[in-house]
Amino acid sequence: MGNNAIAVMASGKGSNLRVILDAVAAGRCPVQVKLVISDKADAQALEIARAAGVPQVVHLCPKSYADRASFDADCAELIDAAGCQWIVLAGYMRILSSPFVRRFRGRMINIHPSILPAFSGAKAVEDALSYGVKASGCTVHLVDEVLDGGPILAQAVVPVLDGDTFESLHARIQVEEHKLYPATLARMVTSGFDIEGRRVIWRT
Ligand code: GRF
Repeated sequence: MGNNAIAVMASGKGSNLRVILDAVAAGRCPVQVKLVISDKADAQALEIARAAGVPQVVHLCPKSYADRASFDADCAELIDAAGCQWIVLAGYMRILSSPFVRRFRGRMINIHPSILPAFSGAKAVEDALSYGVKASGCTVHLVDEVLDGGPILAQAVVPVLDGDTFESLHARIQVEEHKLYPATLARMVTSGFDIEGRRVIWRT
């Protein structure tokens, strides 16, 4: 199956991008990060990518596009031109258009800060806290046209403690994200998987 070149799309502080780049540098994740795209000019992810020497680091401003589809079409062009086989969403906060999702079906993954299907959406940590669950965590999943709804590749669980705030719970979840995302990416490109219905079956 293709190559191990990946594109990372990120809108925020980029800690997941950072741990992926660290894992690559340490030889624990056999991918090449060829391209990082952000929709936010001030995303720390852009700095992290530049500092790590990612060959192409791009900010695209949504306001310069007529609509979501044309913004996504430019992202897709960049991804294909860079020869990326996998698209890794790491705190990318824009809804993706259907043509973009279809184009990269089975090749695009996301990390979400809850145990899906509980608490999909942009406020997963707040929602888990106010619902009162006693455990939460993170999910790495394939991206399809249902928001946070694609087949699940891996999950990790953390306790929710009585004194938790958004910050303390998110920090505990991120500790797990930072182990789970590079490890899942490595497994994906080395073992591969099959999909049976909604189930991801790892090959080895
Ligand atoms: C993570 O919590 C991830 O689960 C969610 O967005 C956050 C991104 O964090 N999708 P970072 O920018 O990688 O630090």
